[in-house]
Amino acid sequence: MTTESLADFFIHSQCLLENAFNEILIPLKGEADSAVNPPLVDAMQYCLTNGGKRLRAILVFAAFDAVADRERPASLVEVAAAVECLHAYSLVHDDLPSMDNDDLRRGKPTCHIAYDEATAILVGDALQTLAFDLLANSTDFSASQRLSMVQVLASASGASGMVLGQAMDLQAENKTLTLAQLENVHSLKTGALIRAAVALGAIAGGASQQQRDALDDYAKYLGLAFQIQDDILDVESDTETLGKSQGADIALNKSTYPKLLGMDNAKQKAAESILNAKAALSLVKSDQALYAIADFVTDRRY
Ligand code: IPE
Ligand code: IPE
Ligand code: MG
Ligand code: MG
Ligand code: MG
Repeated sequence: MTTESLADFFIHSQCLLENAFNEILIPLKGEADSAVNPPLVDAMQYCLTNGGKRLRAILVFAAFDAVADRERPASLVEVAAAVECLHAYSLVHDDLPSMDNDDLRRGKPTCHIAYDEATAILVGDALQTLAFDLLANSTDFSASQRLSMVQVLASASGASGMVLGQAMDLQAENKTLTLAQLENVHSLKTGALIRAAVALGAIAGGASQQQRDALDDYAKYLGLAFQIQDDILDVESDTETLGKSQGADIALNKSTYPKLLGMDNAKQKAAESILNAKAALSLVKSDQALYAIADFVTDRRY
């Protein structure tokens, strides 16, 4: 796959997700239209349709394509939207004053700045449950596929996955971790959801256990490289390109790869992880998009 067609894949997926979220929120707007009229659904819309890269959605599509012998069914968009809802919730909470205290996300004021802190907490809560609602109702898949997807996303997100990683990340401020400890934090706070995205695509595509294992290896390495690159960009990029505040990790004395290893070794580690991700793909067919996504993870500038 050329860089050009990966760019098309991203643009196409971004449009699909944007449209899906607008549709998904319509019935919720009806619910909220009461005398009290809280800004909850407006704020959900603000956080869902604000131009994320949609990498996790793209991973759902690409993993499905790598194993399935049929066209993508309509409900695959709901599965992709579920992972993006979970991810959006994690960002809204990550930015809260009691967590990373960031005021810029995807080039716009963070949810708690645009609305207020209580709304941001509730938006996160609502996006999290919406994710599972979407999976449960992705009717192009069998009941057993939907149950597996719910289980995978739940365990990747909670106290054995992303939330645990976020808790460890906060504890690790102002500390020097070992490399193994830092790898664990990164693999949990960011890697777990990236692995879940790939696993959901694989389950939806009817992957064999051997294919699922290979894709999971790919996703583990990809997720680690993704967070190492996020740490690198926090140092090397600028706020306008990133759409979030450059230097945020330094300001909070976060444990990051550049801080622990130095910039050159951090880049080396990300590159090695991408090579390992690609090596894991030998057991899946038509894996061109997954290869191109691996390169994108470390080539990206935001
Ligand atoms: C940012 O993720 C948070 C991390 C897990 C590092 P992304 O860089 O994928 O954020 P969006 O969705 O494109 O805004
Ligand atoms: C965030 O890691 C991981 C999650 C949101 C789960 P960061 O705190 O590094 O993400 P950014 O840099 O704020 O996007
Ligand atoms: Mg954080
Ligand atoms: Mg943060
Ligand atoms: Mg970061």
